[in-house]
Amino acid sequence: MVRTLIAGNWKMNGLAASLSEIRAVASGLGQGASGREALLCLPATLIASAADIARGSALKIGGQVCHAKPSGAHTGDLSAEMLADAGASHVICGHSERRADHGETNVSVSMSAAAALRAGLIPIICIGETLAERRTGKVAEVVLTQLEGSIPESGSADRLVIAYEPVWAIGTGETATPEQAGEVHTLIRSALRDRYGPAATDIPLLYGGSMNPGNAAGLLATPNINGGLIGGASLKAADFLSIYRS
Ligand code: PGA
Repeated sequence: MVRTLIAGNWKMNGLAASLSEIRAVASGLGQGASGREALLCLPATLIASAADIARGSALKIGGQVCHAKPSGAHTGDLSAEMLADAGASHVICGHSERRADHGETNVSVSMSAAAALRAGLIPIICIGETLAERRTGKVAEVVLTQLEGSIPESGSADRLVIAYEPVWAIGTGETATPEQAGEVHTLIRSALRDRYGPAATDIPLLYGGSMNPGNAAGLLATPNINGGLIGGASLKAADFLSIYRS
């Protein structure tokens, strides 16, 4: 059975004072619900403290980016080993903001996902089309090319999460409809079946793009949508918990 994963992406938000939200999420989740996981991908500065807070609860902590190498002369970068050492279990790879702002490509995303696996982390590989690509009928081509190019050779179905995040829906308040998202998720599932066979059924496919407490239930009830990657609405414990309970 594929597990549902409700993952928050705090992006470049959160100071020490925000640890109170993480405390509220951890205590609100308690031991969690069966078949359902909760994860917050935090700025690196908060990961170790948050992992301490989350210990003993159902909340997992993740990072938002990692370098391909385990260590070395790469000023300002973070390795997957560092994230794991700080208490992370997952890391986001190839978010569209990283692809746009930092020139990440399918090749570099696949290298950072390989690094995540090497360090014992689960990579959450992000893919998704722009509005222009959707308007010109290129959704399937773009999404499947990104999927194919971003999963490393070392990837395996039991240690992989894919997030479909249409760029036009991120941070815009505009959400893909359950039908639009479901259509792409079904395509992704079928490409993963070609690659991994029946084991692909258990790979969590997350939807991301303005998911909130009002629209989460409809999206999460759609076949092949197994969770969410949530930006803005993950910053407040009450909203995140409400989506988790959807
Ligand atoms: P959003 O961000 O929920 O604020 O649209 C989602 C994401 O970028 O992961």
